Amino acid sequence: MDQHLTIVDHPLVQHKLTLMREKGTSTAVFRQLLREISQLLAYEVTRKLPMTTKKIDTPLVEMDAPVLDGRKLALISILRAGNGLLDGMLELIPSARVGFVGLYRDEETLQPVQYYYKAPDHLNERLVIAVDPMLATGNSSAAAIDLLKQAGAKNIRFLCLLAAPEGVARMKEAHPDVPIVTAALDERLNEVGYILPGLGDAGDRMFGTK
Ligand code: URA
Repeated sequence: MDQHLTIVDHPLVQHKLTLMREKGTSTAVFRQLLREISQLLAYEVTRKLPMTTKKIDTPLVEMDAPVLDGRKLALISILRAGNGLLDGMLELIPSARVGFVGLYRDEETLQPVQYYYKAPDHLNERLVIAVDPMLATGNSSAAAIDLLKQAGAKNIRFLCLLAAPEGVARMKEAHPDVPIVTAALDERLNEVGYILPGLGDAGDRMFGTK
C-alpha cells in the first residue's frame, strides 16, 4: 500500500465521479457533484487529525469529550479550479482558514509562474490541505506546495479529484512528505497534458467557460 497515495474507492464517490466524467453532464450538475464529492474526500483527508478532549456537561453527567486539537486547519485553493472543491469542504469544516495560490504556465519555459498568493498566518502550526481537482503534470501542484513550504507549512496534504500517474510521480519526487488523496488514478496524460480518460477541463466544466 502506497502511503503517499490514497484512492477513495467509496461507492458514492465512484458513482458521482462517473456522472462528472460524462460529457453531457450540465454545468449545474457538475458543480453540485463536485461539491458533494469534495465533502466525501474531505472526510478521508481529515481522518487522522489530532484530537484532544474537553470537559462538557451532557444533560446527565460530566464527560471528557473528543474535540479537534491545535490550530484551525488551512485549506489552500489552487486557482481557479481548486475553488470548486473549497465550498463543499468549508461546509464540513466551517472554521477552516482559507488561502489561494494562483499560477499560470509560461508558454516559453512551460514552468509555473505565480500571479497570486494569500495564505493564513501560522501555517507552520496548521494542517494545510492544498486542493486542486486535477493532478495532471503535477508541475503547478508541486510549485504551489513549494510556496506553502516557503511560508512555513510543515504538515501538508494534497486533495484532488483525479490524478494522472505522471502527476503522482512528479509530486512524489518533489514532495514525498505530502500525502495525496484522490477519487481516482487515471491512465495517463495526452499530448497536451489532459488526463485520460479524465473529465475534460475541470475549470471550464464547473464555471461553464470554454
Ligand atoms: N486540468 C484539467 O482541468 N483537466 C485535465 O485533464 C488536466 C488538467
